[in-house]
Amino acid sequence: MKILVTGGLGFIGSHTVVELQNEGFEVVIIDDCSNSSENVLEGIQSITGKAPIFEKLDLKEKAKVQDFFKRHEDVEGVIHFAASKAVGESVEKPLLYYENNIATLVYLLQELAAKNRASFIFSSSCTVYGQADTMPITENAPVKPAESPYGNTKQMGEEIIADTCKVTPGLNAIALRYFNPMGAHPSTEIGELPIGVPQNLVPFITQTGVGMREQLSVFGDDYPTEDGTCVRDYIYVVDLAKAHVIALKRLLEGKNTMNYDVFNVGTGKGSTVLEVIQSFERVSGKKLNYKIVDRRPGDITTAYADTTKANEQLGWKAEYTLDQAMGSAWNWEQKIRKPS
Ligand code: WQD
Repeated sequence: MKILVTGGLGFIGSHTVVELQNEGFEVVIIDDCSNSSENVLEGIQSITGKAPIFEKLDLKEKAKVQDFFKRHEDVEGVIHFAASKAVGESVEKPLLYYENNIATLVYLLQELAAKNRASFIFSSSCTVYGQADTMPITENAPVKPAESPYGNTKQMGEEIIADTCKVTPGLNAIALRYFNPMGAHPSTEIGELPIGVPQNLVPFITQTGVGMREQLSVFGDDYPTEDGTCVRDYIYVVDLAKAHVIALKRLLEGKNTMNYDVFNVGTGKGSTVLEVIQSFERVSGKKLNYKIVDRRPGDITTAYADTTKANEQLGWKAEYTLDQAMGSAWNWEQKIRKPS
């Protein structure tokens, strides 16, 4: 069975391609390589022994999207990762985000709606909750006004899919609201490849650990949390990738009870920034050089998932611990920084 993975050369996309191939799916990747490299294909193939079909294509070009689906009529499911995801950049360039994250989604859905039956998995985010009022966060928590155009594209994306599914019986979709993905494949053949200075905590930690960065700045330790630093739900990327395959199979096998549904994908456990640093120090045996600085504007205090719905309805649960995920991130960082 052929599955399209858009953004399949990216961090979460590439790990999901591996898990799809492990389950026997034929995978075709569309990626415009604006934030990824074709070398990732070799990494995927070295893990699974199978080369995904790859088409470098910009989903903003509607005619190209239509042509793709004419040439690949046997695509039965789509996992849609391709999107811009830098929160700060989205504030400066909102139209780039609305075009790249929304127009492309519309073009994909137009093709899928024209098929008799299609399954669609959407990469959403816990960002839609903003600062939720109660912890852990369930899927019923209110979606709050987005704090950035990026977050807004995730909220709008979910609504566009829900509206389309309402009038398209053959279209079945699931939105997966990720918490904080981290880590790398155990093989160290694929992992996170941030371009430039990493915005996210874990790659900044491992780049500091490997000597690429002088010092980690911890953005504030005066939050109302156990140690004053922000709490997040850090989920291992392979656990997250497996959730996509399980969600897709639920739709392909017709086990879904609604033709649009939403699931939180996290570990259900919150960790503070200092606890993540301590995890790095445990797994690496190195002291991390960091300093406490001012809060980062826009950061919320606490977010971690209630994963009951995914546990019970998808039969999925995160299996890896923070230290195991951090160990994979550290192994990956050391490998890619080794002088070739
Ligand atoms: C985590 C914590 C920072 C960097 C992001 C995306 C969000 C979603 C999840 C995609 C915060 C602190 C960070 C640093 C630090 N991804 N931090 N020093 O902000 O929770 O969310 O990932 O959907 O859209 O924005 O993740 O890794 O940036 O920050 O102290 O150098 O680490 O303040 O408390 P965040 P993050």
